[in-house]
Amino acid sequence: MNKKILIALLMCFPLFAHASEGGENLMKADVNLENKNSLRHGAKLFVNYCMSCHSAKYMRYIHVAHYLGLTDKQMQNLILVSDFSDEDKPQGVDKKVGALMTVAMTEQEGKKWFGNPPPDLTLVARVRGADWIYTYLNSFYLDPSRPTGANNTLFHNVGMPDVLWELHGLRKLKETKDKEGNAEGIEPANFEQVTEGKMTEAEYLKATNDLVNFLVYMGEPVKMERQRVGILVMFFLVIFFIFAYLLKKEYWKDVH
Ligand code: HEC
Repeated sequence: MNKKILIALLMCFPLFAHASEGGENLMKADVNLENKNSLRHGAKLFVNYCMSCHSAKYMRYIHVAHYLGLTDKQMQNLILVSDFSDEDKPQGVDKKVGALMTVAMTEQEGKKWFGNPPPDLTLVARVRGADWIYTYLNSFYLDPSRPTGANNTLFHNVGMPDVLWELHGLRKLKETKDKEGNAEGIEPANFEQVTEGKMTEAEYLKATNDLVNFLVYMGEPVKMERQRVGILVMFFLVIFFIFAYLLKKEYWKDVH
């Protein structure tokens, strides 16, 4: 094989390794980009609970609104809740419908406050995978030794606080440690509920699934379009084949 091709192939391997990190133990997210209700709920949770820290700066509000079928008013509200800037002006007025989904927090501020800056989440579902994020959002638990008071069984010593604690309630880990003494068991069943959340466990699982669905959509906004075009192309090829075949028969008719 050509040496350059071999090197290019080898360079791809760490990417695959990263995407499938911790593969076996992950919870299974139910991703369905046709489910607009789920995506709308996910978008709402995203702007309310995630955009105080994380941007989605490769996505525009208007694209989200179009795909999710939001009314103008709903889109304005989406922009309003996501604008957390402290500036002295009615919130959100500087954000136009075509604006990118950016946040006010700078990378330096993020690093100062959380140790690691909150990464942009537009493409996170492509990098981590839906199941990883779903599991991650269901793996926060109380840990007084951490600066944020929270830790995560999937992402040990994570810098992110347990921002959805109000929804799922405070949880502590049931004492299960693996051989190296790490907290083990990422299934929600391994947590012990300390306080009740606003949501039941089933509601919280659905909410985080909707959030993941929305993150997948953001990473692949043209996926549905691509699939539709793909089906049309296949359909065209089938019809074309029939005509080509009939034509071939017509041409060869006199030869045989
Ligand atoms: C208070 C700020 C804050 C909020 C709000 C927040 N995060 Fe985070 N998030 C962080 C920080 C900081 C990190 C980086 C953690 C680290 O590297 O230790 C992070 C990391 C992540 C990661 C891991 C990214 C990666 O690939 O390493 C995901 C996924 C994520 N957040 C999703 C969310 C979602 C979804 C929400 C909304 C429900 C949310 N975050 C809300 C601060 C926040």
